[in-house]
Amino acid sequence: MKILVTGGAGFIGSAVIRLAISRGHEVINLDALTYAGCLENLASVADDPLYSFEHVDIRDRAALDRVFAAHKPQCVMHLAAESHVDRSIDGPGDFIETNITGTYNMLEAARGYWAGAGKPDDFRFHHISTDEVFGSLGATGMFTEDTPYDPRSPYSASKASSDHLVRAWHETYGLPVVLTNCSNNYGPYHFPEKLVPVVILNALAGKGIPVYGKGENVRDWLFVEDHADALLLVLEKGALGRSYNIGGENEARNIDLVRSICAILDEKRPKAGSYADQITFVQDRAGHDLRYAIDPARIRDELGWRPSVTLDEGLEKTVQWYLDNETWWRALQDRDGVGVRLGNKG
Ligand SMILES: NC(=O)c1ccc[n+]([C@@H]2O[C@H](COP(=O)([O-])OP(=O)(O)OC[C@H]3O[C@@H](n4cnc5c(N)ncnc54)[C@H](O)[C@@H]3O)[C@@H](O)[C@H]2O)c1
Repeated sequence: MKILVTGGAGFIGSAVIRLAISRGHEVINLDALTYAGCLENLASVADDPLYSFEHVDIRDRAALDRVFAAHKPQCVMHLAAESHVDRSIDGPGDFIETNITGTYNMLEAARGYWAGAGKPDDFRFHHISTDEVFGSLGATGMFTEDTPYDPRSPYSASKASSDHLVRAWHETYGLPVVLTNCSNNYGPYHFPEKLVPVVILNALAGKGIPVYGKGENVRDWLFVEDHADALLLVLEKGALGRSYNIGGENEARNIDLVRSICAILDEKRPKAGSYADQITFVQDRAGHDLRYAIDPARIRDELGWRPSVTLDEGLEKTVQWYLDNETWWRALQDRDGVGVRLGNKG
C-alpha cells in the first residue's frame, strides 16, 4: 500500500511508520513538526526508498491538496493532533484548530482527491482517535463502540468532534472511512512530558515523581507497537464506516503503574533506597476522569486481533529503552516550551 500518514513524527505515528515500512508499504509522512514532532523517531527509516516526508500543517488546506496530487496515496492514516490533556486545559485554541479544523481539511482534501480519481474502491481514510471521547467510567463497566460520547476535557471534546466529522463524511459523501478509538499508549519514543516518561526520567534525576490526587485513576495501557499493528490491520481489514476500540487488556491504577516502574528501575539501576520513595502526590487535574476501560470484543472477534505484550513486559521494554536512549530524551527536554508536565494520556 501507499499510505499517507499524518502526525508521523509523533509517538504513535512514528511507530506506525516504522512498522509499515518493515512490512514493505510505501509511506508519506505529513507533519508540521510542532513541539511534539521529532524526526529522530524515524532515523531508522529516513533513508529508506519507501519513506518520504512532507513538512506540512493540516491547517493549510492548499498544502494538503498539493500533497494528495503529488503523491496519490491509496490510503490515509490520520494521527496528526494536539494530544496532551494538560496542555488542552492550559490553552484549548490549538486543539480546536488542529484536531477539528485540521481534520475537516484532511477530509475535504481526501474527498476531493478520491472523487477526482474516480472514487477507487480500495481508498481508505483511517481516523485515529481516543477512548477519552466516551467520558469516565465508575468502578465497573467498559467502553464499547456503542457507548455514547461524553467528552469532558478540551482535548477529548476536540477528538469527539473530529470523530463526528469523519462519520458524517462517510454518511454524506460516501468517503470510505474506518475509525479506531484506543486506550493509553506507552512505549519507546514517548514524548518526555507524558506520564510514563515523566516517572522514569524524574526517578532517574532524583526528583519527586508526581502523581495526581491519590493515584486512583485507572487506565488501560496499550504498548505502542501493539497499537501500530492493530492500526495497520484495521486499515486493511476493517469494515467501511465502522469503528473499532483498541485496548491493551491491561487495566492499572496510576499509583500501581508508577510503583511498577519504580520496581523495574530498582532492578535495572539500583541506588540506596527505592525509587518509590520519590513518589509525591500533587493536586488532582481539573475534571480528571476516574477510569477508562476498553471492551476489545469487536476487534478480537471480527479481525482476530489481541495485544501481544503484558503490561509488565511492556514496561520492562520501555524502561530499558529510556535507559538506552538518553540522547533522544535529553534533546527533547531542552526544547523551548517543553516543561516536564504531568501527563495521563499518551
Ligand atoms: N498517545 C495516546 O495514548 C493516544 C491514545 C489514544 C489516541 N491517541 C491519538 O493518536 C494520535 C497520535 O497521538 P500521539 O500520542 O502520537 O501524539 P504526539 O503528540 O506524540 O504526536 C502528534 C504529531 O502530530 C503533529 N502535529 C500536531 N499538529 C499538527 C498540525 N496542525 N499539522 C500537522 N501535524 C501536526 C506533531 O508534530 C506530532 O508529530 C492523536 O490523534 C491522538 O489523539 C493517542
